[in-house]
Amino acid sequence: MEQTVLLVAGARPNFMKIAPLYHAARKHPEIYCRIVHTGQHYDYDMSQAFFEDLDLPAPHYFLHAGSGSHAGQTARIMVAFEEVCQAVKPALVMVVGDVNSTLACSIVAKKLDIPVAHVEAGLRSCDRTMPEEINRLVTDSISDYFFVTEPGALENLRREGKDPQKILFSGHVMVDNLFQQNEKLVGVAPRTFSTHKLKEENPGYAFLTLHRPANVDDPGVFAGIVSALNRIAEERAILFPVHPRTRKKMEQFGLVLAEEIKLLPPLGFREALFLWKDASVVLTDSGGLQEETTALGVPCVTIRSNTERPITVEQGTNILAGTDPKKIVETYRQALKSGRGKNGCRPPNWDGRASERIWNYLLAELFSVRPAMAG
Ligand code: UD1
Repeated sequence: MEQTVLLVAGARPNFMKIAPLYHAARKHPEIYCRIVHTGQHYDYDMSQAFFEDLDLPAPHYFLHAGSGSHAGQTARIMVAFEEVCQAVKPALVMVVGDVNSTLACSIVAKKLDIPVAHVEAGLRSCDRTMPEEINRLVTDSISDYFFVTEPGALENLRREGKDPQKILFSGHVMVDNLFQQNEKLVGVAPRTFSTHKLKEENPGYAFLTLHRPANVDDPGVFAGIVSALNRIAEERAILFPVHPRTRKKMEQFGLVLAEEIKLLPPLGFREALFLWKDASVVLTDSGGLQEETTALGVPCVTIRSNTERPITVEQGTNILAGTDPKKIVETYRQALKSGRGKNGCRPPNWDGRASERIWNYLLAELFSVRPAMAG
């Protein structure tokens, strides 16, 4: 019999994780996978553009949660998601990542006694000032199935007393998506490429993303980061797709960025990939980009002092810079010297098959279906 799975996404970094899961689920007639979009992100650039790029259908359920305080946003998602669960009575709720939508929907499902699977479980920054760390801890404390991306996450879950039978070292669904999308990047360069004459005038450009509250909400910290970026921009152009939160803060604090920092609107998945995959260096405070740059061997400077994704530093191309301006510039130089593909090592199971492993595991474990081919 067909089993209904609700696959939850709310914010931009969720969409590239649910896409490969949704596409892989369609190969299994036993699974009836429905997408729930909480509406945490709602601008076209932050949401619908991704559904189009990632070949996802319009969400089957859209919850209109919108922005607001953490409590307000989480509460709105919970109330709306409870109604969906009560109407649909799914066999499983699957949540990804660590955003407020992840937390809200896992709590709702558990209280209705619906099993919860957490994809990208077990990551810990050990920094409880990060909202995502609270979301990770709470979600993992009540989830039933844990799909992990790196050995450190496996250790964290074991240390926290999780049943090893319920943990699968699946690899990374985001890397499944990255490989699928990379293959589709044929021929046509996005408009940004020609507008900024990247090939002719700025071949060694850097690519920047910045949106963490700890980096952009405090005027002193943000000004320090901008001074480092302006210094780097004396050497090379920096492409900077600006997150809505960051744009608001830049205007509020009156920060002036060098002309060589090219401000762009938030980019779709493919356009961003087209640009960062050939950058000489990526500067970021995103979690996902730390991993994606490792998967494609692009040098990465993380503007944070910790990471919940240590494999990207141990085996990948990632170097932690913190937020001190001098240290950011030094780390940028170090990353350039390390060149592309530092260590040339892709973490185990980051091979494009994580989604398939997850469904095969769940079919056997939860739905007692033995897949024809084990993952
Ligand atoms: C959220 C996630 C973060 C993730 C990030 C990616 C949490 C706690 N944080 O942070 O982990 O890395 O998404 O973007 O879930 N806004 C818009 N349009 C939108 C969405 C947001 O203008 O479509 C603005 C609003 O002013 C909003 C602010 O951005 O208040 C922040 O949005 P929010 O969803 O609260 O958090 P993010 O900073 O995006």
